Amino acid sequence: MTAKIIDGKAVAQDIRGKLKQEIDHMINEQGMTPGLAVVLVGNNPASEAYVNMKAKACQELGMYSEKHHLEADTTEQALLDLIEKLNGKADIHGILVQLPLPEHIDTTKVILTIDPKKDVDGFHPINTGNFHIGIESFIPCTPYGVLKLIETTGLDIAGKDVTVVGASNLVGKPAAMLMLQEGATVTLCHKMTHDLALHTQKADILILAAGCPGLITAGMVKEGACVIDVGTTKVAGKLKGDVDFETVKEKAGWITPVPGGVGPMTITMLLYNTVQAVKQAT
Ligand code: GUN
Repeated sequence: MTAKIIDGKAVAQDIRGKLKQEIDHMINEQGMTPGLAVVLVGNNPASEAYVNMKAKACQELGMYSEKHHLEADTTEQALLDLIEKLNGKADIHGILVQLPLPEHIDTTKVILTIDPKKDVDGFHPINTGNFHIGIESFIPCTPYGVLKLIETTGLDIAGKDVTVVGASNLVGKPAAMLMLQEGATVTLCHKMTHDLALHTQKADILILAAGCPGLITAGMVKEGACVIDVGTTKVAGKLKGDVDFETVKEKAGWITPVPGGVGPMTITMLLYNTVQAVKQAT
């Protein structure tokens, strides 16, 4: 079997097109422009690139965006003060603090300071808690994008075996929870998992978020499975996913490429969450 390639760019464009209509309506009919503040601390080149892409995507959709770039040696208090200020701004509906933060800053404290109503990343424990007990809340952008990609295959997630590899707070854990809420039987693998292949081979839907390039080979994948690769590791200047794409695409039913799969969806769902924040604020 040769897998169908899930085109993340095309899915993202489609969602952004619908969002643009909604944003135009908000601006023209309600006099309300959705606003997102992105905060970057330090000079991590990958983070800088992501933040610039997020600000650019906002502008393309006619949203208001503010970029706050703080020095690497900024004090924790200065960052907390900025977040408090953004919490109080009526023209800002979403706040995103790009992670990871420098080591001298307590990430949990920073997340706890963001107003949960503006937490478009869905990282505040109030949103995480609501999400886990099934109360409507902001869903973290990357797992949300993964769900949207799976939906394009027409697969019914309910009752399927889903294996998630990688148990980070940003991707793996919320992806597993989202699949559970869709009715899947979920296995969450992590660094301590003894026999990874045992768990990946049984998956109808396999979500990889381990950050280990080429970890998943064809022998570890069920024939016809839907394989979603969240991994992005730079190897010799090129982005590599967790999946050995060339061999796995001959066995899977669907597969996402890296780049061009999950990546474009993360920013799209951030824009989506910011529009949701406006609706909740009005
Ligand atoms: N760093 C890597 N991914 C993310 C994300 O989705 N949100 C934030 N805030 N930081 C990130």
